[in-house]
Amino acid sequence: MSPRPASVRGGVEPFHVMEVLKAVAARRLSHDDVVLLCVGQPSTPAPAPVRAAAEHALGAETLGYTEAVGTLAFRRAISGHYREQYGFGVDPDAVVVTTGSSAGFLLTLLAAFDPGDLVAVTRPGYPAYRNDVLAAGCRLLELPCGPETRYQPSVEMLASLSEKPAGLVLASPANPTGTIIGADELAALTRWCADNDVLLISDEIYHGISFGRPTHSAWEYGRDAVVVGSLSKYQSMTGWRIGWLLLPEALRRPVELLQGNLAICAPALSQAAGCAAFGPDARSELDGHVRRYAANRDILLERLPELGITSFAPPDGAFYAWCDIGHLTDDSQAWCADVLAATGVALAPGIDFDPVDGHRFMRLSFCGTSEEITEGIDRLVRYLG
Ligand SMILES: Cc1ncc(COP(=O)(O)O)c(C=O)c1O
Repeated sequence: MSPRPASVRGGVEPFHVMEVLKAVAARRLSHDDVVLLCVGQPSTPAPAPVRAAAEHALGAETLGYTEAVGTLAFRRAISGHYREQYGFGVDPDAVVVTTGSSAGFLLTLLAAFDPGDLVAVTRPGYPAYRNDVLAAGCRLLELPCGPETRYQPSVEMLASLSEKPAGLVLASPANPTGTIIGADELAALTRWCADNDVLLISDEIYHGISFGRPTHSAWEYGRDAVVVGSLSKYQSMTGWRIGWLLLPEALRRPVELLQGNLAICAPALSQAAGCAAFGPDARSELDGHVRRYAANRDILLERLPELGITSFAPPDGAFYAWCDIGHLTDDSQAWCADVLAATGVALAPGIDFDPVDGHRFMRLSFCGTSEEITEGIDRLVRYLG
């Protein structure tokens, strides 16, 4: 008998950046020259107060399972963060702590939608969203978003659809474009979704990393949306796998029950230490990282034209530049593989983020050191002759 095949859901598309990382690992066996410009991962550890809190918790606490929704202490810390940074109150009961925002997104999909429901995402957009929607058995609607709307969805786009979706996912600052949706546009989308019974899932995990353009939360405009947060990016804590959801009333209990069954709870150590991630000492350390990202961004904006790259999304926030490389290739995946083999510079091919036009785009991450960015660009300039 042949072994039972995997499910249709199991046929999920790869997250191509992970494939690039595999090629990077292979190259590192024989070369000592990799410049990593392909991952959205800060090159710094968690802030010092978090590391100190983790050491303390290891010695002083049992660190067993926590409540499925997360410890009250961490949910209160998150609630305090919204009060201090955004000026609005969040009931700790509205918060569910998750294993990175990745798990929060999946819990939301499972709690809010049934198989066959239509969920809209932006194109370009974060690939796991596309793939998770399909893996959850939902139908996917990709909204092509270009420079006219800062690569963000708009009420006009939604209103013109022949089938109204059950959900809309937006990210601001976005990955891969780094663009930030304006306050008026976010307010209009939040209200339109509430009025039309469309669940807005607002990915705000890059908040804190922006370069002059303000970021806003969907919860400034109503409480019908799901807000997705994380300590991964601004707080430089990717591997701690800790994020959260702000949930409208109707989804709180379903998400709690799903979390209890699927994961029991988010990591206890990360919750205990994560409370220290919102304090002033952590913030002043983390704001130093943001100043470095800003300097890296300046280097890129100045030097990308040396590669003939003159068309890129305005990197308002996060740490990505989404670059049109149509003058260099029609196959971004092969091109990025060639560049890695020839120069040791690892870039993310656009097809990860845009299955239609991504063959002529690449995403460059500028969260490393300024020396790495400069070295990467120098090598690309030499490669292109
Ligand atoms: C837009 C966006 N959302 C969510 C995630 C998932 O992040 P995490 O699970 O580490 O919170 C990422 C990771 O890169 C991302 O870019």
